[in-house]
Amino acid sequence: MEQKTTVISEAALARQQSFLALIRQYWQSRGVTPAAFVDTYGCQQNEADSERIRGMLAQAGYGFLPSAEGAELVVINTCAIREHAEQRVLGNVGALVHVKRRHPEQKIFLCGCMMGEPHVVERIRTSYRHVDGVFSPHHLWAFPEQLYGILSGGARSFVTEDVPGSIAEGIAQLRDNPKKAWVSVMYGCNNFCSYCIVPYVRGRERSRRPEDILAEVRALISGGCRDITLLGQNVNSYGKGLDAPIDFSDLLAQVAELPGDFLVRFMTSHPKDATRKLFDVMASHEKIAKHIHLPFQSGNDRVLAAMNRGYTAAQYRALVDYARSVMPDLVLTSDVIVGFPGETTAEFEDTLKLMEAVRYDALFTFLFSPRSGTPAATMPDPVSKEEKQQNFDRLVARQNEISAALRRQDVGKTLRCLIDGRDGELLTARTAGGRLVRLPGEDALIGEYCSIFITDANTWSLLGTVAE
Ligand code: SAH
Ligand code: SF4
Ligand code: F3S
Repeated sequence: MEQKTTVISEAALARQQSFLALIRQYWQSRGVTPAAFVDTYGCQQNEADSERIRGMLAQAGYGFLPSAEGAELVVINTCAIREHAEQRVLGNVGALVHVKRRHPEQKIFLCGCMMGEPHVVERIRTSYRHVDGVFSPHHLWAFPEQLYGILSGGARSFVTEDVPGSIAEGIAQLRDNPKKAWVSVMYGCNNFCSYCIVPYVRGRERSRRPEDILAEVRALISGGCRDITLLGQNVNSYGKGLDAPIDFSDLLAQVAELPGDFLVRFMTSHPKDATRKLFDVMASHEKIAKHIHLPFQSGNDRVLAAMNRGYTAAQYRALVDYARSVMPDLVLTSDVIVGFPGETTAEFEDTLKLMEAVRYDALFTFLFSPRSGTPAATMPDPVSKEEKQQNFDRLVARQNEISAALRRQDVGKTLRCLIDGRDGELLTARTAGGRLVRLPGEDALIGEYCSIFITDANTWSLLGTVAE
C-alpha cells in the first residue's frame, strides 16, 4: 500500500494565498473587521488542523470569537470516531439555524473527519440547508478559495472528493498556546483496525520531509515553545515513502538533539510498530519526555486478531517490559475498547488482567461504537448493552484505583513541571510524564519550567508548591 507522497505545489499554495488577499480586500472594502468562530471536536490532529484554519483566517484579516454569536464565519471541525461524537456535532450544527437567523450574513462551514463520510455529507446537503460550505480533511489547504467563492456570492459548495492524500507545507498556524505545540509529522493511516473510521476519512499514510519538520521545530523553539508533541495516527510508521531512509526513532533523535530548553513527546504509537530502538532513543535523550501513549485496545488475543491489531497480549507485555527496563520511570497511558462485537465477559477479563499487570497512569476507555463502512460494524454482536456497560464500569473503577495509587507515590517528590495555565485559584502544570499538578502561584510563572514539591494527590491530579 506504500505510495509516493504528493506534495501540493508551491504555485498551488501561492494561489491560495491570493484568495486570502482577496478575502481581506472584500472585508476592507466593506469597512468590516470580520470575526470567526472555529469550533473543534476530536483528537489532536483536528486541533492542529484548526490551528491551520485559524492561521489562514488570521492572514485574511479575521479576528476570533469564543462562540458563533455575532461571527461572520463559523467553522466546525468535526470528529467521526464514535456515534456519540457525531451526534453532538449534528446537534450543535442544527442549533446554528437560530444563530444564523439573527445574523443572515453569517457563513457556516463544516470540515474534519465526518466530512470524509459520504452519507454524512449527503445528510448535510439535504437536511442542513443553513450550512454554506463543506470540505473534507484532504481539501483543507484549498479552504481560502472555497471561502472566497461563497463570500463573492457563489452557491453552497461541497469539496469532498476522495483524492489520494497529499501534504501541504507552509500553511500558517495560529497556535492556541505559544509554549506548547503540535507538530504533525505524518497524516492518514494504513492500519485499518476493523472498528476504526480514520483510514477511510483521513486517507493513506504519508510523511512530511524531515527537513520541513526540523525547520518547524527550530522555529518553535526559538519562539519560546517548551513542549512539542510530534503528531500522527501511528508515528511509528513515519518515513515510509520518503526519498531518504529515515524512521521515527531517527526523527525523534534529531528533534531531541536540537539546542534549547524544551521537551519533545509524540503520539500515537501503534504497538505493532513500536521498536526497541524507539525505546532506546527515548532512554538516551534528556529532552524526550519519558511518557508513551501505547493503546492496547484489548487484552484478549481473539479480540485483538478480530480488531486487526497485529500483536498479541504477550507481545504487548514484552514491549512494555522492555520499555520499562530501559526507562524505569516511564509513564504509560493507553486506550481500550470494551464491548467489541462478540467480546464475551471471559474475554473482557483478559483486558482487566492486562491493565492490572501494566498499571497505566491513565486509561482512555471507550465503549465500542459501530462505524458504518468498517468491518466491525457488520460483525455479529450478541452481547447485551447491559453486560458491556457492567464490564465498562468495572474497568473504569479499577483504573481509578490504579491511577490514584500511582499519584500517591508522587507525594513528597520534587518534580520538574511546565506550568501551563490557570484553573480558578490555582495554576496548572504538567509533569514530564503528563500528570496534572495544581499549585498556588502568580500568572508570571505560566510557560516556565519549575521544580514543584508534591504535597497531596487525588485520582486525577497532584497538588504542590513551587520548590525553587
Ligand atoms: N491512531 C490511534 C488512535 C486513534 S482513535 C491509535 O491507533 O492508537 C483513538 C481511540 O479511539 C482508539 O485508540 C480507540 O481506542 C478508540 N476508537 C476508535 N474507533 C472506535 C470505535 N469504533 N468504537 C470505540 N472506540 C473507538
Ligand atoms: Fe484507527 Fe487503528 Fe489507524 Fe489508530 S491505527 S487510527 S485505531 S485504524
Ligand atoms: Fe476524530 Fe478524526 Fe481524530 S475521527 S479522533 S478527529 S482523526
